[in-house]
Amino acid sequence: MDQEALKKQSAEAALQYIHDDTIIGVGTGSTVKYFIEALSKIKGRIAGTVASSVDTEKQLKMLGIPVLDLNAAGRISLYVDGADEANQYGYLIKGRGGALTREKILANVSEKFICIIDESKFVDILGRNSPVPIEAIPMARSLVGRKVVGLSGNPVYRENYLTDNGNIIIDAYNLNISKPLELENSLNCIPGVVENGLFAHRPADIILIAKANGIETIKPR
Ligand code: A5P
Repeated sequence: MDQEALKKQSAEAALQYIHDDTIIGVGTGSTVKYFIEALSKIKGRIAGTVASSVDTEKQLKMLGIPVLDLNAAGRISLYVDGADEANQYGYLIKGRGGALTREKILANVSEKFICIIDESKFVDILGRNSPVPIEAIPMARSLVGRKVVGLSGNPVYRENYLTDNGNIIIDAYNLNISKPLELENSLNCIPGVVENGLFAHRPADIILIAKANGIETIKPR
């Protein structure tokens, strides 16, 4: 089974966690695209959505799914999003698509966070295959780079890219992520950093891993 088929499978498996008349937080990325398509088929059952990016908002609206402003939405019962990497504790690296800040806000306000991935994203040790993306205000670019070097990482500035919030992304390679909770805090303490793509303080509650022989469900919490 190819990776796209697996992404679709994990996205569709998330539908069973949706309760009628609730508001759903919607992540960003190629796996979430399949979730949005699946959601459009039951759109009459939900009260609306909150989008984690401009791209997601466009996709939702194109399929006639109502999109609400987070501050007006009230209670969000479920947030569904992909990840670059996930481990058995529900800790994640996110942000390859650059939407990490809004994604982390949505994960935090939501009662339940379901992460949808194909099996290639499930890892023993975070950071082997993916950098930790860091969103920073443009002025802080050099400072953030130097601080990442100070943490023994290799910072790579994402060229010609601005986030939906008008900020830059620095991808931090080779960081030691043996203590994800501490590292998430340390990165966010660098002046100018808006948010980083380590999701340890708000891990996923459920991970749906699509494998060739079906869906594996992990409940770290
Ligand atoms: C978007 O900013 C990211 O956090 C995505 O959720 C993550 O990169 C997974 O995307 P794919 O489903 O496209 O791999």
